[in-house]
Amino acid sequence: MDRFRITGGKPLEGTVRISGAKNAALPTMAAALLTAEPVHLKNIPRVRDIITMGQLIAHTNARVETPDVPPTDLTIEARNITDAEAPYELVRTMRASILMLGPLVARLGHARVSLPGGCAIGARPVDLHIKALEQMGAEISTEHGYVTAHVPGGRLHGAEIRFEKITVTGTENILMAASLAEGETHLESAAREPEVTDLIEVLIKMGARIEGAGTSTLVVRGVERLGGASHTIIPDRIEAGTFVVAGAISGGEIEVTNCKPEHIRAVLAKLCEMGVDIEAAGPDRLRVRGAKKLTAIHVTTEEYPGFATDMQAQVMALATQAQGSSEFVETIFENRYMHASEMTRMGADITIDGRKAVVRGPTPLEGTTVIASDLRASASLVLAGLIARGETIVDRVYHIDRGYERIEEKLSRLGARIERLR
Ligand code: EPZ
Repeated sequence: MDRFRITGGKPLEGTVRISGAKNAALPTMAAALLTAEPVHLKNIPRVRDIITMGQLIAHTNARVETPDVPPTDLTIEARNITDAEAPYELVRTMRASILMLGPLVARLGHARVSLPGGCAIGARPVDLHIKALEQMGAEISTEHGYVTAHVPGGRLHGAEIRFEKITVTGTENILMAASLAEGETHLESAAREPEVTDLIEVLIKMGARIEGAGTSTLVVRGVERLGGASHTIIPDRIEAGTFVVAGAISGGEIEVTNCKPEHIRAVLAKLCEMGVDIEAAGPDRLRVRGAKKLTAIHVTTEEYPGFATDMQAQVMALATQAQGSSEFVETIFENRYMHASEMTRMGADITIDGRKAVVRGPTPLEGTTVIASDLRASASLVLAGLIARGETIVDRVYHIDRGYERIEEKLSRLGARIERLR
């Protein structure tokens, strides 16, 4: 199992280019199952979850092609789907596999998708996805660990859907299903994340009729069939945020390029409140200078456009170096502080009380061996390792490979002393 070895204390300098967004690429790839025509995607991040989604789609007998050059391109052609199943072996490695359900049910009138199973950050049920598809006419049972869906009459119909909780992949699944349904679907309390808006853009290019992109009310008028499309995926706002924190925590000066600052406005505002010097260096780039003195903050994670839960762990690493007590309230997931106990082993002063965390600082961090428990927790431990005295070993970096494209190479190019141990 790969591990990272990091020697801390080196301010980062230079430029880092952000890759495409994992959480936009995954639903967009699944959307290709809605049509028999080829869907050509660009700026796809080369991360493990993309490979898993490719395997899931190929398992249906769709053609999935990644040219050598550019390796960030991908073509999917689901001309002849013969197997509407997403098997446990693939699904268990990636919860986003649930995104297979909406397109398969909509296109074929039936599907069998393994339930994702447990996750370190929370229970993460898919009940809202299932309830909404049932409102659209699907008959769904969950047996032997699988969600089995069947549409009597073969075609879903439109419905009035209001999610009890804002769900990103739930919104994406229903958007894809409603695009081929008979009649109109109204989606209230829809997620407004930029990744959802990017999916809507692709669906519209494929011929879908969707109004309300970027708002919490979406109206979809179903069509008989969808066509192919070509689309460039948006940059990864969480990778961009992670590198902004890397520049800030290391006390260096870096430029983050190929990003969309407006997609992480709430996070950038909190970092500026801490005293990090961040300026726009162009429409798609940010210049970050680490601050000599950081100030404690209060953070409450929220759905977009609020402070992203996927940035909570990384900003917590920075808060260990801030003067005073920072407070975090995690409102999205019930168990998203696994990184805190590992940072405490490095010398941080963090107390957890349910969904609240208090971080007292500044505390010098010491290098030691720490274990990554999930994707964003692993990124936060790498950031802590960049400033820890001596050597930090981050174990189980397979978590980080799921969503960050060769992060150790990008950090090395900025001067970090980090290497992958195989
Ligand atoms: C998406 O997960 C992202 N994943 C997550 O990013 C992100 O943390 C999350 O949205 C929140 O922003 C992808 O886009 C692939 P939700 P998703 O459904 O869609 C509850 C990363 O690090 N809920 O919006 O699975 C759920 O338990 C990952 O890249 C139900 O109760 O999250 C949670 O508490 C981690 N029933 C809340 O809603 C449901 O049917 C929000 O979850 C669905 C969700």
